[in-house]
Amino acid sequence: MNLNPFSLQNKLILITGASSGIGRQCAVACSGMGATLVLFGRNSERLNETLNLTGNPGNHMVVSVDLMEYDTVKDAVKNIVIQKGRVDGLINCAGISTTLPLNAVSPDKMEHFFRTNVIGGINLTNQVVRISNFSEIGGSVVFISSVMGVAGENGKSLYSMTKGALIAAVRSMAIELAKRNIRVNAISPGVVETPMSKNAIYSRDEESLNRITSLHPLGLGQPEDVANAAVYLLSDASKWITGTNLIVDGGYLAR
Ligand SMILES: NC(=O)c1ccc[n+]([C@@H]2O[C@H](COP(=O)([O-])OP(=O)(O)OC[C@H]3O[C@@H](n4cnc5c(N)ncnc54)[C@H](OP(=O)(O)O)[C@@H]3O)[C@@H](O)[C@H]2O)c1
Repeated sequence: MNLNPFSLQNKLILITGASSGIGRQCAVACSGMGATLVLFGRNSERLNETLNLTGNPGNHMVVSVDLMEYDTVKDAVKNIVIQKGRVDGLINCAGISTTLPLNAVSPDKMEHFFRTNVIGGINLTNQVVRISNFSEIGGSVVFISSVMGVAGENGKSLYSMTKGALIAAVRSMAIELAKRNIRVNAISPGVVETPMSKNAIYSRDEESLNRITSLHPLGLGQPEDVANAAVYLLSDASKWITGTNLIVDGGYLAR
């Protein structure tokens, strides 16, 4: 019997966005806490790099799929349950970001962002929490949102509207799934040093990067800051927490 409430031993955890940044670190952290993982991403080479970083690649499985291909995702979940058994937890980490003035936010761009950041994750969640696919004793689903889902910033309407949608959806999903003891929570990070933030417009010159950094009283975050919060929300240590949005932002929203 494992007495550590933070342990993920004997849990099957699915992680999207596992080929890079925060999702990759979630894989390393969850594996370190004893979970068996299914790693989702599009780029199979980088997914396999993550697999090797877990230290016990033989335990885990990779699924290379575009989350916008909804039917393929459905088949992938069925196949996972056949191969690995029922799911205990899911981290929806895959996402895209941009900085764009409002007058450049076209319907096409909104559609693309919503399909990737919102519909992709909620469609996967819907498949995963089906009665035949999820653990009978319940479990935990985590969505990686953003402080931009709560606060505003120049050029962030497009990204913010998708991240705010996730925070809103989490609350209702939490209420609906509570009767099966499936908890649903969001994590909202501030700026974390990953390929996404390194490619952002504010990383292109020192002055902008210093400004963004100064908005975080504890400095910019590292992937493990978010991954450790995700481990907590997946573990039994958080068994009475559902429908929340855990802010992990180095003090960004405290200002
Ligand atoms: N970094 C930050 O400052 C920050 C702050 C707040 C919130 N977040 C959120 O945290 C999450 C992870 O961000 P990150 O910084 O780790 O970004 P990242 O390094 O760019 O990684 C993004 C991940 O999303 C996957 N992805 C994107 N579109 C996909 C699609 N259509 N289907 C399947 N997978 C897809 C990518 O897969 P492939 O590479 O295989 O295509 C990649 O694994 C995102 O949701 C982001 O919005 C990040």
